[in-house]
Amino acid sequence: MARQPDRASNYRSLIKNSDGEVFPGHTFSSGQFINLQINAYQFYNHFQYRAQRNVQARQKTGNGDPWRGLIVKLAELNRLPDLDVTAPATLRGAWQQQHVRVDYSFPVVSTRDAFDIANPDFRAVLSLREPQRRHRLAIFLDEGVAKAMPGLVEQIHAYLRFHHEAMELIGDIFMMPGGEACKNDPALVERLLQALSERAIDRHSYSVAIGGGAVLDAVGYASAIFHRGVRHIRFPTTVLAQDDSGVGVKNAVNWQGQKNLIGTFAPPWAVVNDACFIDILPVREKRAGLAEAVKVALIRDHAFFLMMEKQLPALAAFDSHILNTVIARSASLHMHQIAHGGDPFESGSARPLDYGHWVAHKLERLTVHALSHGEAVAIGLALDARYSCLAGLLPAGEDARIYRLLTQLGFDLWHPQLLAQDGQGELLVLQGLKEFREHLGGELTITLLAAIGSGVEVHEMDAELVRAAIDWLQNLHADLAAHLATGSASSSASKLQTVLAV
Ligand SMILES: NC(=O)c1ccc[n+]([C@@H]2O[C@H](COP(=O)([O-])OP(=O)(O)OC[C@H]3O[C@@H](n4cnc5c(N)ncnc54)[C@H](O)[C@@H]3O)[C@@H](O)[C@H]2O)c1
Ligand SMILES: [Zn+2]
Repeated sequence: MARQPDRASNYRSLIKNSDGEVFPGHTFSSGQFINLQINAYQFYNHFQYRAQRNVQARQKTGNGDPWRGLIVKLAELNRLPDLDVTAPATLRGAWQQQHVRVDYSFPVVSTRDAFDIANPDFRAVLSLREPQRRHRLAIFLDEGVAKAMPGLVEQIHAYLRFHHEAMELIGDIFMMPGGEACKNDPALVERLLQALSERAIDRHSYSVAIGGGAVLDAVGYASAIFHRGVRHIRFPTTVLAQDDSGVGVKNAVNWQGQKNLIGTFAPPWAVVNDACFIDILPVREKRAGLAEAVKVALIRDHAFFLMMEKQLPALAAFDSHILNTVIARSASLHMHQIAHGGDPFESGSARPLDYGHWVAHKLERLTVHALSHGEAVAIGLALDARYSCLAGLLPAGEDARIYRLLTQLGFDLWHPQLLAQDGQGELLVLQGLKEFREHLGGELTITLLAAIGSGVEVHEMDAELVRAAIDWLQNLHADLAAHLATGSASSSASKLQTVLAV
C-alpha cells in the first residue's frame, strides 16, 4: 500500500501515543515497540469518516523509515478513508469548508490558604492578562463550605479589602446550597443569572465559584451562558472536584429528572485548588474523591498506582501531605487527557476517563444515590478490573491488587443492588451498558485494563463475564466479612491479604 509523502505526513499528524500525544517526528529507534492510537473522529468532519472509533495498535517499528511501516499498518487497521476532500458528487449547493480553531489555556494553581491576605495566588490569576486593572467580581459560595469553615466569609472580605487595588466585589457574596440539590433546582439557574445581571458582570468581569463539584457545575453553567460566557474562576472544595471535575472543561445542571442534561463545554479562566478546604472535608467525601485518583492511575500511570500502594497507610489515614500529592497528580493526569486526548469536547464515542463508570452511573441510580459517585466508581473499578482479567486482557492477580488497594482505602466494594434483576431475570446493572452507550451517543465504547496503568477500549461486554465478576466481588465481600467477624487480633489489612490469597 504505497502512500504519497504528503498523505503520509497527514496521517502522521493523526497518530498518537497511548497518552494521546502526537509523536513529534522520527524519534523511534528501529525495532522499538510503541503503543499507538488513531483518533479517527478528529477528521470526521472533514472526511466524512463514519466509524468514529479509536484504534489502538501495538506495533514494532521496522528498519529504515519507521514511520512508513506504522502508517501503512495503521491505515490498514483502521481502513482509513482517502484524505482528499471532495464534495459528494450529488451535491447541489456550493460547498465551503469553514475551519475555526480556538485555543484555551488556563492556570490550575495548587495552594494553601488562598484567602490569607499574604497569599498572592488569587490576585495573580485575576490579574494575569490585565495586571493594571481593578477587576470586578461576583462570588458564589457553597453554604456547606461556609458552614464547615465559619471564618471564611470574613476572610474573603479581608482579602478583598487588602487587595482592593486589584479587585472589587460587586454585591454580596451569593450563598447557595451545596450538593446535588443545587443542580436539581430549576429556579437556581435563573437566580444565578439574575445575580450576574444585577452585578452587571460583563465579559471582562469575573464570576468566582467556591464549592463542591455541584456548585461549580451550576455556577459554571450560568457563567457560560450569561453574555455567551463570562470569565469564570473555580475554587473546588472537595477531593473529587480538585482531582477531577474542577480541572475539567464541563459544567451542567440536571433537568426533568435527568442528570447533567443541560450544560456546556466551557473551560474556566483559572482553577485554584486550596488544600485548606480538603482539611475540613468529612472523611466520607475525602475517600470518595480518591476513587477518581485510583481510576486515572489505573488507566494512565502505573508509577502513580505504585506510589499509592506504597503510601497506603498514610493515604488511608488521609494524611494531608500525601492526600494533596495524590490530588495534584490525579488533577494533572486528568488535565493531560483533556489537553492531549484529541477530544476535549467529547464529540466521539470514547470516554477514556470513564473507566469503571458504566457500573457506577447505574449503581448510583439503583441505590437512589445512597452510594455517592466516588463510592460507586470504586465498585466499578474493581468490577471492571476483574472483568478485564476474565476477558484475558489484564494479567491474573492484578484484579486482587486493585481490590486490595481500594478496600484498604476504606471502600466497601459490594452493594446488594449489583444483584438486582428485572422481571426476566436480567441483572439491572447490565442495563447500564445500554444506557452508557446512549449517553455516549454512538457505539458502545468501554475502557478496560490491559495492565495497571494502561487502559484499552472494547466495544462489547460479555454478560456472563460481568456476572462472574459480580460473583467474585460478592464472594470476596462474604469472605472478608467472615474473617472480620472472627474477631482475632490481626488487622483488617492482613485479613484481607489472607482472603485474597485464597
Ligand atoms: N463537570 C464535570 O466534569 C463533573 C465531573 C464529575 C462530577 N461532577 C459533578 O460533581 C458533583 C459532585 O461533586 P462533589 O463530589 O465535589 O460533591 P458536592 O458538590 O455534591 O458536595 C457534597 C457536599 O459537601 C459539601 N462540601 C463541599 N466542600 C466541602 C468542604 N470543603 N467541607 C465540608 N463540606 C463541603 C457540599 O456543601 C455538599 O453538601 C456531581 O453533581 C457531579 O455530577 C461534574
Ligand atoms: Zn467520575
